[in-house]
Amino acid sequence: MSHYSVRRVIRLRGTLNLAGDKSISHRAVILSALSQGKTKIVNFPLNQDCLFTVGAFRKLGLRIDKTLSGRQMPAATLKVYGKGLLGFKRPDSPIFIGDSGTTCRLMLGVLSGQPFVATLKGGKSLSRRPMRRVAQPLRLMGAVINARHKRCCASGEEYLPITVKGGLLEGITYKLPVASAQVKSALLLAGLFAKGSTKVIEPVKTRDHTERALKIFKAGIKVDKQSIVIEGGRQLRGPKQIYIPADISSAAFFIVAALICPGSRIVIRNLSLNPTRSGLLKVLKRMGANISITASKAQGWSYEPMGDLIVRSSSLKATRVRREEVPSLIDELPILMVAACFARGRTLFEGIEELRVKETDRISSMSDNLRKMGAKIKVIARRKRENIIIKGAKVLTAAEVKSFGDHRTAMSVIVAGLAAEGRTRIDDIGCIDKSFPGFTATLNKLLKFKGFSG
Ligand code: S3P
Repeated sequence: MSHYSVRRVIRLRGTLNLAGDKSISHRAVILSALSQGKTKIVNFPLNQDCLFTVGAFRKLGLRIDKTLSGRQMPAATLKVYGKGLLGFKRPDSPIFIGDSGTTCRLMLGVLSGQPFVATLKGGKSLSRRPMRRVAQPLRLMGAVINARHKRCCASGEEYLPITVKGGLLEGITYKLPVASAQVKSALLLAGLFAKGSTKVIEPVKTRDHTERALKIFKAGIKVDKQSIVIEGGRQLRGPKQIYIPADISSAAFFIVAALICPGSRIVIRNLSLNPTRSGLLKVLKRMGANISITASKAQGWSYEPMGDLIVRSSSLKATRVRREEVPSLIDELPILMVAACFARGRTLFEGIEELRVKETDRISSMSDNLRKMGAKIKVIARRKRENIIIKGAKVLTAAEVKSFGDHRTAMSVIVAGLAAEGRTRIDDIGCIDKSFPGFTATLNKLLKFKGFSG
């Protein structure tokens, strides 16, 4: 248990060069592994989740070399020695993937196409997350998948550990019942191995990093709004080098911190600005945030859009976050709830029920913590839909809060503590390493006056 204390600070100032985007990095490793030949991946983030994807492929017999690069947040250059679609070896024991949901669901897609049996095992939090949403359509394609069921409940939900017997897959047309980039990606990856074409239709557009990466790796892929078709049986050819722009989901904490701490001005360089991921910026701008975006000098290096951001402290006003916007800011909802606490008026978050099945139940974790700090939060559940209303007050009071073992809850409450009166204590922040080792060190660099003790 590593607790953490934070006090109100004066302002944040400085320039950030953050390590690469977690979602883009998982895909970069996976497609490099599935292609023929060597791919160099630059600015790869050394967080636990991405390292589990690297570990999974090493277990399948792949060579991946790692050289540290001196960024503010731990990052590395990877060399992945791809083996083609079917060059892997059968793992001699279960593949442990920690609590990385993206590793899990995307690897289920890859393993469904392999001519051997493999088992995925996860940590405590991942083992509680629903897997039926991905197992079910992969079965329709022909994979044999055995998952754990909970003895207590007859919900039919499925959980890790999961054993996959891959092999001959058939292309399918599948309409996703939930907007999930992980499920979509698993099906597109399985589609690479399938006979014929696989079509995935999304209810709402989710992050499109897999589609962009598949195009760069010369897969037969066609995207038409919310429907994506992939042709099976084609060998992948990579771009030799991939640059990963900075992670907007990590930057989000500093963006909101700078907005709510008066007198702040920060610059974030080479930030991933993929439109399917940058809903946070759109919403914050609507709230009156002073954020400007300029062209990044490094744009030519990446197949994903990026830019430099300047953020200045701002007086925020409430907004309505619509259901259709949620996938583009799903991971930023906890920190957006913090921003809403400091905005004039009532902010409405519509259709955020997917937060219940993240690393922890983020509706509970965030509303419990922010209420303790004096925020006015109402959770409204109607059938399967959930909304939240936050009445902004501009002041929060320090409290004893909990991370609930969730990295994004922990970072969000640290940011809330930066602008709260008194000293906020968070019970355990070890979980932050899941996505952002070096978070507190990076934050300390931005603080003109020392406001912390560990
Ligand atoms: C991710 C997709 C999202 C997101 C997760 C990363 C991805 O999950 O919450 O942190 O990289 O595809 P869902 O696809 O379950 O919505």
